[in-house]
Amino acid sequence: MKDTKKSVHGAWSSRFAFILAATGSAVGLGNIWKFPYITGENGGGAFVIVYLLCVLLIGVPIMIAETMLGRRTQRNPIETMELLTEEAGADKNWHYLGWMGIIAGMLILSYYSVIAGWSSAYILKAFTGSFFNADAAEIKGIFDDFIASPVQLVFWHSAFMLATMMIVVRGVNNGLEKAVQYLMPSLFVLMFLLVGYAMTTDSYYQGLHFMFTPDFSKLTSSAILTAMGHAFFTLSLGMGAIMVYGSYLPKNISIAKTTFLIAGADTVVALLAGIAIFPIVFANNLHPDSGPGLIFETLPIAFGAMTGGWLMGILFFVMLAIAALTSSISLIEPAVAWLVENKDFSREKACVWTGLATWLLGLGTVFSFNVWSNVKFFDRSIFQLLDYLTANLMLPVGGFCIAIFAGWIMKRQHSEQELNMPTEQSYQVWKVLISYVAPSAVFFVFLHVIGVL
Ligand code: TRP
Repeated sequence: MKDTKKSVHGAWSSRFAFILAATGSAVGLGNIWKFPYITGENGGGAFVIVYLLCVLLIGVPIMIAETMLGRRTQRNPIETMELLTEEAGADKNWHYLGWMGIIAGMLILSYYSVIAGWSSAYILKAFTGSFFNADAAEIKGIFDDFIASPVQLVFWHSAFMLATMMIVVRGVNNGLEKAVQYLMPSLFVLMFLLVGYAMTTDSYYQGLHFMFTPDFSKLTSSAILTAMGHAFFTLSLGMGAIMVYGSYLPKNISIAKTTFLIAGADTVVALLAGIAIFPIVFANNLHPDSGPGLIFETLPIAFGAMTGGWLMGILFFVMLAIAALTSSISLIEPAVAWLVENKDFSREKACVWTGLATWLLGLGTVFSFNVWSNVKFFDRSIFQLLDYLTANLMLPVGGFCIAIFAGWIMKRQHSEQELNMPTEQSYQVWKVLISYVAPSAVFFVFLHVIGVL
């Protein structure tokens, strides 16, 4: 690929650094907060199977494609699409894909930051011993009081946005790489400890049963869409985040192998979160479908009851907040990279403007949990609407376009060269998945939802 412009783009110091950062982007609230509650809302086992299939057959091939597109040009998503359409001699309109990604990222971050703010607030609650020996009703009371307070939510949302922008302002190599290096291993250890606690409740098998025994009669078309949307969400796909991270990836690294590692780690964290949470749900006669508050209404019960629970509670919410932080930077990086590289903004100025816009938008989500809880669009609160619009529509549409571009528009010799797979067969498998399987799966799910199929 010829380089026509001076690059202001950073680069990862190693393959390991890329794995850490991409895993940091993938593992976040999506795994620990969202996966359990949407699994609970959609009836468990059957939903989990559809989700796992979507990760494997749609998510992984698209993740490989998205990383590849970014690395080929080493530019931000909008420029990447411009340069690649030029290279392929294709229609100019493809760069709108980059645009949609930038917008989707900011929309997601606006509510992501609010929930990350909840996690941060819970660090303090854990520290002050609020959960000590509290029963399920008291823990629910703490949560309900908290989200009823716009002042508190705005405060924590603002603090989290500020922290995000302070990291983004320093660029990819400083800050980002280091944060993830310690976080991921510690997060794994803590998740295992929580699963250990779940095993001591007498509802452990009931929890496992809920998660892993499919009852396909519970599988509605909206559950299928949510499962597919979540495969995109949890792997950070469909809006250019992984494209940007791929653009910082050195040329000599195998994209496919790295992708499997990242998707594998991401899936394990989500499953562990579910295995830890559902036994606690059943042991306390709570409902799995209690919505976005699920982890905040269940895990504190465990922290309040177990020995060492005070420390574990603090550590857990600290890690959740940091995991959210390493994800949120990837949601805003495409917008910042574009302003810096194309609009001659300084990194500081780009961060101030994108951060401020996202923060402002986030107020809609804050108020949707209290003062505006009656404001509904299409039967959805502002938070639910933003979540549906981004995770269930924009990301799958973005992913679909990425698949079509990588499978049909980009020249075969170019993708083959860029991916540089160990064997011809593995390239073939990817090529079939990206050209046929992934796009048609997304397409059929959409048809199913609008009732055509
Ligand atoms: N994957 C993250 C999570 O599971 C969220 C996220 C970060 C994301 N970057 C993204 C989602 C880009 C979609 C697109 O919490």
